[in-house]
Parts: sequence; structure tokens; C-alpha cells
Amino acid sequence: MKIAISGKGGVGKTTLAGTLARLMADQGRKVLAIDADPDANLASAIGFKIEEVAGITPLAEMTAEIEARTGAKKGTFGGIFKLNPKVDDIPDKFSLRRDNIKLLVLGTIPEGGGGCYCPESVLLKYLLRHVFLQRDESIILDMEAGLEHLGRGSTRGIDAFIVVVEPGSRSLQTARQVKKLAGDLGVKEVYVVGNKIHTPEDRRFIEENLADMTILGGIDYNQEIVAADRRDEAPYDVNPEVVQAVTDIYANLSRHLEKQNA
Ligand SMILES: Nc1ncnc2c1ncn2[C@@H]1O[C@H](COP(=O)(O)OP(=O)(O)OP(=O)(O)O)[C@@H](O)[C@H]1O
Ligand SMILES: [Mg+2]
Repeated sequence: MKIAISGKGGVGKTTLAGTLARLMADQGRKVLAIDADPDANLASAIGFKIEEVAGITPLAEMTAEIEARTGAKKGTFGGIFKLNPKVDDIPDKFSLRRDNIKLLVLGTIPEGGGGCYCPESVLLKYLLRHVFLQRDESIILDMEAGLEHLGRGSTRGIDAFIVVVEPGSRSLQTARQVKKLAGDLGVKEVYVVGNKIHTPEDRRFIEENLADMTILGGIDYNQEIVAADRRDEAPYDVNPEVVQAVTDIYANLSRHLEKQNA
């Protein structure tokens, strides 16, 4: 299953992404987790050790690699570079590993605005397209609310597009925006996961306000998740409730996709 996770800042995208990655890996799947957030912290949400996290060089910062693969100088605009850079060896070559999980950290990808075709942006876009269309393992992409780094081509390979929300108007607004952007890229359905739910009213607030979207489930607000974050531990390792919630969400998603493909 190939899953992209988006949503407003701080709603819990990384918490969901890291927990899902661990869950799928424990179910025996090979997982490629991709951190596409410039402020990368998926590694610790998965449970990589501090020393491992410190040793990560985001792909966008691998200047020599980018120049060699694209034939263009990193950080330059326009110019001539290979339109078909080699990317297929990147996931295996540059990922951090733990059991069934490979983690790739993309780093800060310059946005394509203002006619910028920076080589690093082209390379990473190719990479995302490649992993979604060609790799045969499960993929979890943790990204920001903006979808600049996905093209129509790559969304064809995404089985589920999930937007995380919390019970507040702003994150719901972001969810609608994400739905619109994803729709523009050809994504038919955007699934919703509620997070930081305190009360039944919180749940209802989300359901009522996103009645036109499929809600896969919710994760309760839990102080242990915050505490785990402070200790750089994975929610998966310390909080059975979040594991159960994400297990249910995953089962629900699988059912939806089966129905869709039937
Ligand atoms: N269910 C929850 N209960 C309590 N705290 C939570 C819960 N989910 C996430 N958090 C906490 O909220 C903060 C933000 O979570 P997380 O990093 O997963 O969000 P994000 O959407 O990835 O944020 P960003 O936009 O910064 O990447 C973290 O401190 C995390 O521990
Ligand atoms: Mg995050």
C-alpha cells in the first residue's frame, strides 16, 4: 500500500506516519518511509536512535550527488540538465534501515514557483514519481500541506491520500484545501484521520464539518505521545492506545480500498 500523509502543521502527520510505518513493518511488509518535511522528524517517530538521526544527511543537501545525477549545479535556476536523472538506486543507497523499514529524508526542496527548475527539485520529484510508480514495497510519505512536490504522474501510484486533522477549524480548512489540490492532481479520494481527540464532541465536530470526506478514524489526545516525543521515542513503542487506533485506521483503509477495487 502506498500512502501519502498531509495536513496542517502540528496536527500529527509524523505521529501517524511513524506509527503506520512500524505497524506495517511488524505485519511483515517492507516499508519505505519518506520524510518530505523540511523540518524532518519522521526518524524519531519511527524509533531510530538519536545517534542515527544525527547522522542523516537529507538528500537535498547531497550536492555532489545531485549535480552528478542531473548534470546541473545545485541551487541554480533553469539551465540545462538531464530531464531523466537516475533515481532508482536512491532508496536503497541512501536510506537508514531498521528491520523492515527504510527511511529516506528528502530535506528542504526548493519550491517550483517563479519558473524555478532547480536540479534538486527536479531530482526529488522524479524520485517520488519513481517510488510511487515502480517500487513494490509499501510507501509512507510524510509531507507538508502544500503538494508542490507531487505531480500528476506520481499521484497515479498513490493508493491512499490521507489528511490529518485536529478538532479545530483551521486544520479542517487545510484539509479542504488539500482535497482541492489533490483533486487537481487527479486524486479522487482524500481520507481523513482525526487526531488529538479529547471528547466525543471533538469527534462529532470533525465528522460534521467534513461530511463529504471519508473519515478513517481518530486518535485520542494522549499525554504519553507528548512525553514520548520529548524523550525522542516512537509513539509505537510507548503507547498501546495509539497503536490500537492506528491499527483500526489501517484496517478501515484496507477495507475501503478493497471495496473500491472490487
Ligand atoms: N494524539 C496525540 N496526543 C497528544 N499529543 C500528540 C498527539 N499526536 C501528536 N501529538 C504531539 O503533537 C506534536 C505534533 O505532532 P507531529 O509532529 O506528529 O505533527 P506534524 O503534523 O507532523 O507536525 P509538523 O507540521 O511540525 O511536521 C508533537 O509534539 C506530538 O508528540
Ligand atoms: Mg511532521
